[in-house]
Amino acid sequence: MNIADIRKEYKQRSLSEKDIEENPFKVNAMTLATASATGLPAARIVLLKGYDEKGFVFFSNYESFKGIQLSENPRACLVFFWKELERQVRITGLVEKTLAAESDEYYNSRPATSRIGAWASPQSRVINNREWLEQNEKKYTAAFNGTDIVRPANWGGYRVKPVTIEFWQGRSSRLHDRIQYTLQETGNWLIERLAP
Ligand SMILES: Cc1cc2nc3c(=O)[nH]c(=O)nc-3n(C[C@H](O)[C@H](O)[C@H](O)COP(=O)(O)O)c2cc1C
Repeated sequence: MNIADIRKEYKQRSLSEKDIEENPFKVNAMTLATASATGLPAARIVLLKGYDEKGFVFFSNYESFKGIQLSENPRACLVFFWKELERQVRITGLVEKTLAAESDEYYNSRPATSRIGAWASPQSRVINNREWLEQNEKKYTAAFNGTDIVRPANWGGYRVKPVTIEFWQGRSSRLHDRIQYTLQETGNWLIERLAP
């Protein structure tokens, strides 16, 4: 690729006021790390779709690679990184599927095309080519033919129930702040400072 092409690439992207969040804290991409029963790790980005004292919720395909790892080993680590704030948050915890009603509620809030996508894409499986995927999308669009696009059983939410939450704040001379919360059996959080 030559430099002229790179410039062309830049021109295809834009950031307009009408596309951005009113609140910069709404940025919700996080790294999700999982591991197989044998300890093989895998990480990928998913979107945080809800959080409260019960945990952190994201949605995915239950038969995806992450879904298989989570069924073998229902533990995960989440990492958020805010470059502008020089801040990182790391959460480790136990993972459970959200209730069907919770998965339905989020699934039904998604556009029809995304709902069809959940049916059409066997996430993380090897497929022959792009055409196969597009044909599958057409197949499901025709099959639902304007009827209610219900949630496929292999798609839904996961909740990461935190056991530790660590806040990292960049500071000068590499003397960063790290504060770790660890959930105790009493239900209280132990707060400790870690060396950077
Ligand atoms: C910004 C961004 C957001 C994403 N959000 C999700 C998501 O919410 N759920 C999901 O299943 N995959 C999401 N993906 C795709 C995943 O990173 C990943 O490719 C996919 O889930 C398959 O992962 P697996 O093979 O490890 O199961 C997202 C990717 C990016 C880059």
